[in-house]
Amino acid sequence: MPNLNEVIRSTPKAELHIHVEGSLEPRMMFDLARRNGVPLPYGSVEEVRRAYSFGNLQEFLDLYYEGMNVLRTEEDFLDLADAYLRRAAADNVVHVEMFFDPQAHTGRGVPLSTLMDGLERAIARSRERGVSVSLILCFLRHLTEGEAFETLEAAEPWRDRLLGVGLDSSEVGHPPSKFARVFDAARDMGLRLVAHAGEEGPPEYVWEALDILGAERIDHGNRALEDDALVARLRDDRIPLTVCPLSNLELRVVDDLAAHPIKRMLDLGLVATVNSDDPAYFGGYINDNFHRVAEAVGLSPEDIQTLAKNSLDASFMVPEVGGGQGVVRNR
Ligand code: HPA
Ligand code: ZN
Repeated sequence: MPNLNEVIRSTPKAELHIHVEGSLEPRMMFDLARRNGVPLPYGSVEEVRRAYSFGNLQEFLDLYYEGMNVLRTEEDFLDLADAYLRRAAADNVVHVEMFFDPQAHTGRGVPLSTLMDGLERAIARSRERGVSVSLILCFLRHLTEGEAFETLEAAEPWRDRLLGVGLDSSEVGHPPSKFARVFDAARDMGLRLVAHAGEEGPPEYVWEALDILGAERIDHGNRALEDDALVARLRDDRIPLTVCPLSNLELRVVDDLAAHPIKRMLDLGLVATVNSDDPAYFGGYINDNFHRVAEAVGLSPEDIQTLAKNSLDASFMVPEVGGGQGVVRNR
């Protein structure tokens, strides 16, 4: 077996938990601010990096929403997604299911068509390079059910460019059940369903995501490990968890990477995957997440291969008959 670094580098993988807005690097934030004449509360890239120290999810979200204020034009969304997709390809990512937060843009006057067209152009380029990409529209759970419905309706003209819907932003106080009817409507549109749950929220929120929303994957899911019956459910139904080690460290979901539960999840028979979440904010892209957590908890080359295989199995892509890995029918 080749060494761990070589296995991480060379193993094909899917990334299933990446918020494209969370891939906005400080350098690009400055470039876009200049291009669009948007004032920034930072004097330098170094100052931005120094600001990225978070005590919890909300402290991160405040800077995440502030940072994306520089995204204004179709070109901005093209450049953002294109940079991420090139970076992912360099990590041997063969398929991406990419989250985006339309309400974070429409809420400040950027039309949905602007981001849909920019993202679509980046996706077309990525496909030409051989990396398939699908889009998952996330509802901001701190906003109302009515606003989520408005967003789903507004997205209908782009139905065929969407793979599914998800649920993100401030978790505690906004249980999945708040969006039961929106997810029913999304299911009726033929969209796939995922939800962030159990990042800061209790195991009950993971149950709700499964039983009330009908989520097919759980984003994060760390706190599911507190509930043995829930672990059994996730294992028996092979519900994947899209786990994000560096995010968990930076948002204090774990105190120390050595205490990260990724190995325990595998040992419990869960379909765990490794992802970057918001790589520009948490200090690493997908392979950095693999390297750092592998070193911290002592993953073997076989564990790496299991995690990578899990990501391909957990994706919603449909392998072409006789085709190789990463081949999709896909929207
Ligand atoms: N959790 C919730 N909302 C988010 C995250 C996250 O990790 N990243 C971007 N939006
Ligand atoms: Zn996330």
